[in-house]
Amino acid sequence: MTILKEQRIILTGATGGIGAELSKQLLSHGCQLGLVGRSAEKLQKLSEQLLADSAAQQRDVCLICADIAAAEGRQQIVGDMKQHFDGHDMLINAAGIMDFTSFLDQSDERIEAVLKTNVIAPMQLCKQVLPYMIQQDKGHIVNIGSTFGTIGFAWFTSYSTSKFALRGFSQALRRELAETAVKISYIAPRAVKTSLNSSAVYEMGKAVKMNMDDADKVAAQIIQAIIKDKKEKYLGFPESLFVKINSIFPGIVDMATRSQNKIAKKFV
Ligand SMILES: NC(=O)c1ccc[n+]([C@@H]2O[C@H](COP(=O)([O-])OP(=O)(O)OC[C@H]3O[C@@H](n4cnc5c(N)ncnc54)[C@H](OP(=O)(O)O)[C@@H]3O)[C@@H](O)[C@H]2O)c1
Repeated sequence: MTILKEQRIILTGATGGIGAELSKQLLSHGCQLGLVGRSAEKLQKLSEQLLADSAAQQRDVCLICADIAAAEGRQQIVGDMKQHFDGHDMLINAAGIMDFTSFLDQSDERIEAVLKTNVIAPMQLCKQVLPYMIQQDKGHIVNIGSTFGTIGFAWFTSYSTSKFALRGFSQALRRELAETAVKISYIAPRAVKTSLNSSAVYEMGKAVKMNMDDADKVAAQIIQAIIKDKKEKYLGFPESLFVKINSIFPGIVDMATRSQNKIAKKFV
């Protein structure tokens, strides 16, 4: 067993492709999970599958049907954890939405929704969970970012913006909480085969030879990064190298991606 045993974890995005795999693997580490999603039906289905596939008991899982973008949803998450597990030790912010679109064609409402779901709501949820973590002198917040949070990607402009912000938030908060026992991690996968990506993204990915990982492997890498207490972790090579190159020489990446962006535009 690892240090994750008996950790009480809030997992947003639990019903998603990466979240469902994280749920399964975290249960095998002996964790107690608050599974968050907006659809009661999807949560119920996930829970039945998890209990059928693992040695976990019903009491190890708490289904929390809540919208993280709403204040009452975030309050409910902390309240349900208190009621079910008497508190929380970790928050994994894995809920997210994404559009593959020309920036000019994206509606103002959708830009707001992407920023709200991917960065503002996770920040507000951190505010909700932190007082208890600081008080109990123990806690870990894990923000799931993306390669697109360090390399700005054409046709994913709002999504890239949201993940850049989530990375900045994670770094600043980590420094702000350095004198406390609360740890902050930012873990950034490259593309993953889940329904976050539309069929157009899959087609585009094939055309530009984009690497795409399986969700179970990504979940295992995320868990290893948590166990090793990685502060920032970029998954996948050569993407992890491009992240460094883009940080130092963005002009080189501008040039290197120009032809790829033209191909990708055909699928938008
Ligand atoms: N897939 C990729 O290529 C990829 C690559 C890098 C990083 N990531 C990141 O990894 C994380 C998980 O992605 P995924 O691929 O697993 O996505 P996914 O399969 O589309 O799942 C998204 C999850 O977010 C939840 N969600 C969305 N809006 C919500 C809201 N307002 N309140 C509560 N839950 C909400 C969804 O639940 P309901 O709809 O049921 O509420 C679902 O569980 C995201 O942060 C994503 O940005 C993904």
